[in-house]
Amino acid sequence: MAVAVLLVLGISMVMFTIPAGKADDGLKQTIMSVYFHDHSSGSPDSTARAVVGFPGKLWNLTQFGTLFVSDDPVTEGPDPESAPVGRGQGIFVTTSLDGVNTHVSLSIVFTNEAYIGSTIQSLSFIPANRTK
Ligand SMILES: *[C@@H]1O[C@H](CO)[C@@H](O)[C@H](O)[C@H]1NC(C)=O
Repeated sequence: MAVAVLLVLGISMVMFTIPAGKADDGLKQTIMSVYFHDHSSGSPDSTARAVVGFPGKLWNLTQFGTLFVSDDPVTEGPDPESAPVGRGQGIFVTTSLDGVNTHVSLSIVFTNEAYIGSTIQSLSFIPANRTK
């Protein structure tokens, strides 16, 4: 699985490219690219929000122990107005004491006609260079 991550503070977009199976193993191969639109500004239309953190600390992506929940639109193209394919639902927890790494557990819940009822589970992390 090749995963390319592009994350910009405020509004973020993540692209997954998923090659699956080999031509000669009898399995069907599906290659798909989808785009996550993660709005974490804290405004009422945010799709990712901090829900718990240490008392007395800011609950943000660089603070160890901050837990976010997301329900992001997932679309066919990079444009947020492109065809929706599902939702990116899961949790983000900043798990390094220095605040540079965030653990991510996400379900891609498909809602489009081609894949409705299917999900892809992703366990990964957002690395230190996420804002570059
Ligand atoms: C996150 O909060 C901590 C304090 O809890 C602060 O030191 C840090 O600068 C904040 N980071 C951002 C990006 O606001």
